[in-house]
Amino acid sequence: MLDRTLEALRGMVWPGGDAVGARAAYERTVEAYFGSGTACVFWKGRIALYAILQALGIGPGDEIIVPGYTCVMVPGPVLYLGAKPVYVDIEPRFFVTPAQAVAASVSPRTKAILVQHTYGFAAPVQEIRATADARGIPVIEDCCHTFGGRVNGRLLGTLGHAAFFSAQWNKPYSTGLGGVALVQDAALAKCVRAEQAACPPASRGAAFMLAAQLLVHELFVYPSTTALATRLFRWLSRHGLVVGSSSRAEFEPVMPAGYLRTAAPVQCRLGHREVARIAANMACRKRAAEFYRTELPRLGFELSATPPHWDTPLLRFPVRVANKAAALAEAARYSVEIGSWFECPLHPIETDQAAFGYRAGICPVAERAAAEVINLPTHRRVGPRDLQRTLEFVQKVCRPADTADR
Ligand SMILES: Cc1ncc(COP(=O)(O)O)c(C=O)c1O
Repeated sequence: MLDRTLEALRGMVWPGGDAVGARAAYERTVEAYFGSGTACVFWKGRIALYAILQALGIGPGDEIIVPGYTCVMVPGPVLYLGAKPVYVDIEPRFFVTPAQAVAASVSPRTKAILVQHTYGFAAPVQEIRATADARGIPVIEDCCHTFGGRVNGRLLGTLGHAAFFSAQWNKPYSTGLGGVALVQDAALAKCVRAEQAACPPASRGAAFMLAAQLLVHELFVYPSTTALATRLFRWLSRHGLVVGSSSRAEFEPVMPAGYLRTAAPVQCRLGHREVARIAANMACRKRAAEFYRTELPRLGFELSATPPHWDTPLLRFPVRVANKAAALAEAARYSVEIGSWFECPLHPIETDQAAFGYRAGICPVAERAAAEVINLPTHRRVGPRDLQRTLEFVQKVCRPADTADR
């Protein structure tokens, strides 16, 4: 889109930008969209989570309940603060943690419960709150896979005490990297704002590079080129030539130097625009999901119907296959955009799971999902031809996983 290209160019020419004005405009737009809560924007979603945990006073000896099917950047901030992530297994249809399993994991040391709306499916926040509220435990919604999803008309992200969102490359809307904390409780919001104020801004060099990457992404990255672009991006990132989504140091359970950063002006300006037009974004995602939902059962894939009181656009459309490794290996050859996540309970596969407190076997449903699930694109660049090509790929290459024993 032309306006994203122009914003990226502006971000390169003026990386420092009007940081205060751009940030305030973005935060007010998010608050207006959700209709409640205080928004604080950051360089990445994980930093928003860190700020929320810090504001809650989390520290050594505390336990935080975390889904055992997530990105490793989620337990990272928990460990940085000296607390312990307690992993809870997911249920197999919507890949979210069931309220009963969460309740069974609560201990006198539990200081927060993290609830993740995986792929955009709604986690049972209200049921989890019944347990949490009775014990005075705050609930944090991980909304990194959703923006605008609703249950019974209520927006995901407003059901817990606080929520955090990601605007990284493949998230509901993208500012390259980016994160937002949305805090419902006024006293807690004041503390998160103080954490944000203590964060230095991203360096001008990093802001410039991110704007340049946004420009390249806007001009050249389409579903048919994503596999190639991702490989190139990972290589450049490993060699420190681009701003990667995660540094090597972030795969260690200790906070790396320079981790805490607020959002750069280019992120804020793009974020502001993207939130203002989120309805069109969600409409694309719904159309793509509807296509998969209609076509995949004809190819023998069993899908779970979402409850009628959900209005949940999907970030990616998960499909269980019996030959995940082969499917991923073939995807590039077919020029289709097939996602691998989550590859293991604490994605990605390179993560030392034990270093982040995960022991093999504690979340068997998540482990099986990680072995079977590939995900299909739903974003605004996926046109009818891409959908058709993706379907052809699934038909030719993928074999449905056996779901009879579930
Ligand atoms: C479920 C989930 N939570 C949190 C994050 C971290 O978001 P960010 O990369 O913006 O820090 C991710 C990133 O992929 C994610 O998938």
